[in-house]
Amino acid sequence: MEQVMRDFFLFLSKNKTLTKLAKQYGLRFGASRFVAGETIGQAVEVIRSLNQKGLVVTVDYLGEFVDNEKEANEMANHCIEAIETIGREQLNSQLSLKMTSMGLDISNELVMRNMRRILDTAKANDVFVTIDMEDYSRCQKTIDIFKQLKTEYDNVGTVLQAYLYRTESDIEDLKEYHPNLRLVKGAYKESEEVAFPEKKDVDENFKKIIKMHLLNGNYTAVATHDDAIIEYTKQLVKEYNIPNTQFEFQMLYGIRPERQEQLAREGYTMRVYVPYGTDWYGYFMRRLAERPANVAFVLKGMFRK
Ligand code: FDA
Repeated sequence: MEQVMRDFFLFLSKNKTLTKLAKQYGLRFGASRFVAGETIGQAVEVIRSLNQKGLVVTVDYLGEFVDNEKEANEMANHCIEAIETIGREQLNSQLSLKMTSMGLDISNELVMRNMRRILDTAKANDVFVTIDMEDYSRCQKTIDIFKQLKTEYDNVGTVLQAYLYRTESDIEDLKEYHPNLRLVKGAYKESEEVAFPEKKDVDENFKKIIKMHLLNGNYTAVATHDDAIIEYTKQLVKEYNIPNTQFEFQMLYGIRPERQEQLAREGYTMRVYVPYGTDWYGYFMRRLAERPANVAFVLKGMFRK
């Protein structure tokens, strides 16, 4: 049943008509639990209050299905606005973004132009930028772009997904770039040809790549809400004397906030991924797919609004 729900929400997340409708009608159905607001001003309030609790942030301007140059340029402008705001308001926040929002499905040239604009502004404001990883069909392109950008900028990192068979060799392949990588389980629906179908295999591979990347001496963001993985990381760094400055934990805004604060109190860097913007629908559906138990919460929200 859980798998059916998961597939259903992932299917809904890709629906362009619902995405457009959601944009027009504003944050609904309890989405505000996971999305910081529709404007940068609302996001600033959320970031500031997280910073006050000892949590650091990576902020993300939401955008899905960008299929023309104008929209991609506008998405990049929103990222630049967010970076300048972080600098001006002295927030402890990085930025996350998606290659498709920057025009990946249109042309490489467009993505590179937008990324260089963003990374120049980020460098001037001392802000680090992480390129989120999307579905498998964009994985190689994203890694190629990351490699190119990493030769030009220090303030850029990307994400690798434990559910993909290829990730172990990507860790090895990227080793020489000394990348700051966020490691995650993976949020998209992928075929058995490219991804482990069983959760237990994903979890094992997650542990394996965390160990590989840390022992390669590279900065590792362990992005998960899973206590077993968090405990594994804590034990590993203790065993190998890896300092707290070489890794951090990351979680999504609205998920396990007490655990986030607890990890920060224990002295770990705890970064919260804070999405904002009018294009909240696809992101929200992927969060429901991860944890169908959240649906009960959403149904309550539907009747309250
Ligand atoms: P999993 O979903 O297996 O959950 C493990 C346990 O965590 C659960 O059993 C439960 O105990 C607890 N838990 C999970 N959700 C909960 C909730 N809502 N409330 C209470 N407890 C909960 N993916 C991707 O493909 N590309 C990307 O770029 C990113 N980026 C990213 C950034 C950050 C900061 C995070 C945290 C995650 C991502 N992801 C991602 C998403 C990631 O791939 C994955 O889908 C989710 O993190 C869910 O997987 P978990 O590791 O949390 O474990």
